[in-house]
Amino acid sequence: MTQKRQIKLSAYMVGTGMHVASWRLPHAQPSASHDIDFYKKLVQTAERGKFDFAFLADSLAINEQSHPNILNRFEPITLISALAGASTKIGLVATASTSYIEPFNLARLFLSADHISKGRVGWNIVTTRDLSGNTARNFNAEEHFEHSFRYERAEEFLEVVQGLWDSWEDDAFTEDKDSGQFIDPSKLHRVNHKGRFFSVDGPLNIGRSPQGHPVLVQAGTSESGQNFSAKVGEVIFSIKYNLEDAQQFYRSYKSKVASVGRNPETVYILQGISPIIGRTEEEAQAKLKLLESLITEETGILFLSDYFKGVDFSGATLDSRAKDVGLDVLEETKSDYKKHQPVIARENPKLREVYSLLTGSFSGDHLVGTPIKIANTLEKWFKEQAADGFMLMAPTLPDGLEDFVELVVPLLQERGLFRQDYEGSTLREHIGLPIPVNHFAKVLETK
Ligand SMILES: Cc1cc2nc3c(=O)[nH]c(=O)nc-3n(C[C@H](O)[C@H](O)[C@H](O)COP(=O)(O)O)c2cc1C
Repeated sequence: MTQKRQIKLSAYMVGTGMHVASWRLPHAQPSASHDIDFYKKLVQTAERGKFDFAFLADSLAINEQSHPNILNRFEPITLISALAGASTKIGLVATASTSYIEPFNLARLFLSADHISKGRVGWNIVTTRDLSGNTARNFNAEEHFEHSFRYERAEEFLEVVQGLWDSWEDDAFTEDKDSGQFIDPSKLHRVNHKGRFFSVDGPLNIGRSPQGHPVLVQAGTSESGQNFSAKVGEVIFSIKYNLEDAQQFYRSYKSKVASVGRNPETVYILQGISPIIGRTEEEAQAKLKLLESLITEETGILFLSDYFKGVDFSGATLDSRAKDVGLDVLEETKSDYKKHQPVIARENPKLREVYSLLTGSFSGDHLVGTPIKIANTLEKWFKEQAADGFMLMAPTLPDGLEDFVELVVPLLQERGLFRQDYEGSTLREHIGLPIPVNHFAKVLETK
């Protein structure tokens, strides 16, 4: 691929935004997470900003402590299929878990959405983090699969899905009215998979899409998660809070990709960012303070008690400091907490700030400020090999996305760091990913 290296951009779309209190802002629309018109406008804004793709996260269980924006929301594959009709260029990535669906169903859903969008779809492969603690019981089971087991199962799951996606060679549907031959049967392939977890014959009842397969997106953080994504991921998400950690992850991840025989240049690492944009530095700081002041004591402390099981929060308020409850010295094995621990130990933040960190709605001071400050940070991270692009996890929506598109994107474009317009039509073309070879055709050719 000879394209000039440019920043990739993705927009995380979730109701009123990543911040737990975003729905309480005066201008917020609390019903956003289940309003199709709201999502259509979001995707159109991101498309106006020439984003590579819009992203939809998912979970399969909720409880009273869940983030308000996930309590009442659309199923993501359904949603991207609707958004395909409201957009023409932007990629559409939906999250789906390998732990609670059959490979055949999932292969069919994603390939259908990929056709409906004319080749603009991606699948964010998750094995499901059981944040609410009750996911398995929505699926005829008592226990959620154990962590590394989930990834072993995911590998086989994906193998089946990719086999099903290749059921038909691109010229299999001859549709020849004269001869009466609808298909060329030699170009139809059954996966005939018999493995440790799955037994699936195929073929799939839909052919390959304009981009071959949906793009594979992954965000594993643990050793098993990273090993899995190094083998299969085409776009990788990570959230790091300083340049050095991001660079370290970038280097180690790309070398993992190379060590399994893949080209690290066509595996793209996007860092999650939650910028707070103000016309002035003071305006941005005031926005942040306002958001933090809107977190209720009850929501914040309940979340933290649930997250840090065993830590005593009695008597603490959201204005207590991390050290007051011993978070600075806490031995914690959760991979998403480990990355925050150095910041928490060093800066001894208020609990409301810890909360913002853990819920992914605060990236650090380097991303609070004017559009120029934010563009400078992104340029630095991009040029200094900390990221190939960014996942905009706006703390507030729609304004966090609108401000980014109106104020930050033009700066990146002026600097030649981001596209002026889409050059292709499929998600693979936007990102710079090859069309996967049909592995059945490949097998036949090499025989
Ligand atoms: C930007 C981003 C988005 C994610 N979206 C989801 C999601 O929608 N659903 C989900 O279950 N997990 C999601 N995850 C979690 C990851 O899939 C993964 O489980 C997590 O990073 C922990 O890594 P591990 O599974 O290797 O322990 C996301 C992670 C990141 C960084």
